Amino acid sequence: MAKRKPKKAKKGRAKAAAKKSARKVVKLAASKKANGNGLPRPSSKPYGQAGRALEGLRILDFTHVQSGPTCTQLLAYMGADVLKVERPGAGDITRGQLRDVPNADSLYFTMLNGSKRSITIDSKHPKGTEILNRLIKTCDVLVENFAPGALDRMGLTWEHIHKTNPRMIVASVKGFGPGPYEDCKVYENVAQCAGGSASTTGFREGPPLVTGAQIGDSGTGLHLALGIMAALYQRNRTGRGQKVLCAMQDGVLNLARVKLRDQQRLAHGPLTEYSQYGEGVPFGQAVPRAGNDSGGGQPGWIVKCKGWETDPDAYLYFITQAPVWGPICDVIGEPTWKTDPEYATPKARLPKLKQIFARIEQFTMTMDKFEAMDLFNKHDIPCGPILSMKEIAEEQSLRSTGTVVEVDHPTRGKYLTVGNPIKLSDSPADVRRSPLLGEHTDEILKDVLGFKATEIAEIKNSGALSAPPKKEKAA
Ligand code: COA
Repeated sequence: MAKRKPKKAKKGRAKAAAKKSARKVVKLAASKKANGNGLPRPSSKPYGQAGRALEGLRILDFTHVQSGPTCTQLLAYMGADVLKVERPGAGDITRGQLRDVPNADSLYFTMLNGSKRSITIDSKHPKGTEILNRLIKTCDVLVENFAPGALDRMGLTWEHIHKTNPRMIVASVKGFGPGPYEDCKVYENVAQCAGGSASTTGFREGPPLVTGAQIGDSGTGLHLALGIMAALYQRNRTGRGQKVLCAMQDGVLNLARVKLRDQQRLAHGPLTEYSQYGEGVPFGQAVPRAGNDSGGGQPGWIVKCKGWETDPDAYLYFITQAPVWGPICDVIGEPTWKTDPEYATPKARLPKLKQIFARIEQFTMTMDKFEAMDLFNKHDIPCGPILSMKEIAEEQSLRSTGTVVEVDHPTRGKYLTVGNPIKLSDSPADVRRSPLLGEHTDEILKDVLGFKATEIAEIKNSGALSAPPKKEKAA
């Protein structure tokens, strides 16, 4: 009997709590109705004046070289506060690589680290570890692309970070995912080769080729940014962070997926849109290099334009898109090809692509690539000039959209950088110059971590923020 009483009381409390929570649900539902699914009411501020998309997000940026910096630069452009941690005295190795201006940060560095703040910390110094732990507590995401195991050797294991700040997301680029090569260091071209791009790029008669677009580094950095966004969204529900891993091999393969598609198609017959089919060259066991054949079902090729003898970029990419075959025939002066059964259907044309493109080229060689572009586009024929980097740097439309931006730097002067290629209508890109090494060390210690001036002086005296003194050479 004596035991029953508290049970009753417990029951009563539970009932009351249930009533309360029911009231809460009703209240929530009502507010959802009022606010549209519980989200804040739509801002009344004009578009572009309601802050940046990632405002309030703080990133502990442990990245270097290209893959990781690509990711964090993009997040910084979108408004995140990116704190780049660099080794005292040296910094990101790219600051000094491919230097064009003596004693100034290279373009390699400046074009990948815009809109960030730089703090120098020796992560292997006890005081440095203390500062890093404080940063871990205040940041939302740690991004790194060290060689496998390097972060652990600094004492920053997932277990340690998660214990210090359970909400923190730890995002990493590595060369390979778990498997035989997981411990290997990887650079761009290694990833292009391991991810299936190099074996499928180039001409059939030549060796495998790497591409100029940095699909291994910048491509994987973009994948990582997407992973971070997804993890942040999930954190809204779960309240906890998670690990995000992007392997460069996986990133390249994701971009080269059409070639894995073709590998499987090979089991069912030749790849009829590859020019080697029309040339009667048999296919082997693996997807061959396809030169400039277009990847899709609409055959394309690069054709010469006026001036090709002296200008290496006087070319046009031309696509014989089936729906505009009629206009193509009219424009190039072959109107009979519209009805001739040898040319009239895409299937009939496949074995003759080489000859068809030779005829198109005869025509495009009479005009420059821009005249050709204008003419064909009047007829909705898909094509594009081969633009040199000089032409891109000078292209005014890319400047006005903010895709190419000129910024001013205290030691190197004005330089061009690539702005945010992702345009958000309510979050204008924040493209600023890259920081000097340790430029914001004091500012971050004071404003982000709340250290007093005396404490900052103490930290500096400890040697945690400066390069270790050079060892005297033995006499
Ligand atoms: N304070 C003290 N030490 C620091 C430091 C800091 N602030 N920042 C870095 N270091 C140390 C690291 O702890 C590491 O030391 P350890 O190996 O003795 O433990 C060392 O600097 C070098 O780091 P690591 O990443 O091994 O650089 P690396 O120059 O030897 O290799 C890569 C460069 C790019 C090959 C390698 O980082 C890698 O494979 N990264 C993953 C894949 C990748 O992103 N590749 C593309 C790069 S564009």
